[in-house]
Amino acid sequence: RLLIVDFGSQVTQLIARRLRELNVYCEIHPYQKVTDAFLAEFAPLAIILSGGPDSVTREGSPRAAESVFTMGVPVLGICYGQQTMMTQLGGTVVGGEGTKEFGRAYVKAEGQLDLLDGWFLTEREQVWMSHGDHVSALAPGFAVYGTSPNAPFAITADVSRQFYAVQFHPEVHHTPNGAKLYENFVRMAGFTGDWTMDAYREQAIAAIREQVGDRKVICALSGGVDSSVTAVLLHEAIGDQLTCVFVDHGLLRLGEAEQVVKMFRDNYNLNLIHADESALFLGRLEGVSDPETKRKIIGGLFIDVFQKYANDIEGAEFLAQGTLYPDVIESVSFSGGPSVTIKSHHNVGGLPEKMGLKLVEPLRELFKDEVRALGVELGLPPSFIGRHPFPGPGLAIRCPGEITREKLEILRKADAVFIDQIRRHGLYDDIWQAFVAILPVRTVGVMGDGRTYDFACALRAVTSVDGMTADYYPFSHDFLGETATRIINEVQGINRVTYDITSKPPGTIEWE
Ligand code: XMP
Repeated sequence: RLLIVDFGSQVTQLIARRLRELNVYCEIHPYQKVTDAFLAEFAPLAIILSGGPDSVTREGSPRAAESVFTMGVPVLGICYGQQTMMTQLGGTVVGGEGTKEFGRAYVKAEGQLDLLDGWFLTEREQVWMSHGDHVSALAPGFAVYGTSPNAPFAITADVSRQFYAVQFHPEVHHTPNGAKLYENFVRMAGFTGDWTMDAYREQAIAAIREQVGDRKVICALSGGVDSSVTAVLLHEAIGDQLTCVFVDHGLLRLGEAEQVVKMFRDNYNLNLIHADESALFLGRLEGVSDPETKRKIIGGLFIDVFQKYANDIEGAEFLAQGTLYPDVIESVSFSGGPSVTIKSHHNVGGLPEKMGLKLVEPLRELFKDEVRALGVELGLPPSFIGRHPFPGPGLAIRCPGEITREKLEILRKADAVFIDQIRRHGLYDDIWQAFVAILPVRTVGVMGDGRTYDFACALRAVTSVDGMTADYYPFSHDFLGETATRIINEVQGINRVTYDITSKPPGTIEWE
């Protein structure tokens, strides 16, 4: 396996993504944790030092543990990683007065380097730079293999020790040939690319059997990709020792609860309890319009309900959760201060301790796209795996203001028409998430010869890579017009349709 030492770059996760795409297993760990003892235990086949926001010229700035350079494995330093490598091995880095470089830059080759196989097929390569400091004198043993106007040491290496250091970020999109560089690096380090979801499936099943033995496991199945893949994987490993509880809070989309339950019962013969608690949830939400209060009520009730059903499953000792790798990567925090809560997310944190359960988390090592690949491997329908994300609190947060059964009914129908339109036009897979929000206002309209006084709704569709930032989807005016007409004609209770063109930030994807 490969070790990525994180110095706090915003894009460290992308390095891991690029490597996983090459079927190489890697882990990210913060530099503070990567001590000589950690390295001896982890025994990486190769090491990558990430970028980071600090300056190596600052007293007390982060450094890599000494044995990174003495354990005899290939090392690739990126940006800050390059600079600390140079500094630690006897070179010099200077502060960036006047030579800061951010954004697109072009590197020219100097000599021949295996790391750059497939590079410089034309005279220069486009790369993405983001640095204030730069190397001013190489460490002994290093030579230059690429230069850019503002970075005379853009690509450097000590080939005999297999140390490589680049000033730019090969992991980002704007370094178009970056994946090739990683491919060369892992090939030179001896990786064979055997990290596939096919192999992972076997390994994960064996690990689950080992951990669980003949004991019982419960799992909260939401119908989302993560919990679905977790459930199916566990079912394959331990069959009837698994019981899933599907908490139906009455805030799901049109026909969703029935579809999810049917799919898991028919295709997988899974022990599945359909906990229809919509009356309880909707009752408690009556008259509540504050978004955070709604979220807290739903989150709290979800835990109570799940616990009630779980208590009835005799002898359950484990709780299965679809925790993913991005949730467990420890991050390097420089600010130290707590970050602001924008929205309190829905999860079952704290539940295992309260119920005395042990955790089974078979997806802890996987990125989202790997989970999808594993789901396909396990026979989940690709259309199911490719569904847009849906938030835990469901339609409650797409119904600003007070939630009523009437509004939910209207919202479900409008949402179904919008999604149908998107599918008919072949746009579903280009969009990260699309939905309708019903607005807490009625507006006046005219239909036929009569006056109407009905709800207005907003269409929301965004593109995004990870949900952290997003942009509105640029539908054609024809598409929007046709969709508005269909919604107003087909959904009684709506007489006005708007399109939300806010990006995130400053907006959020959901309305609450
Ligand atoms: P926002 O609205 O914060 O949403 O821009 C970002 C992504 O997170 C989803 N979301 C949630 N997912 N529980 C979830 O499981 C929640 O409480 C929750 N709130 C928002 C949202 O749908 C989008 O994909």
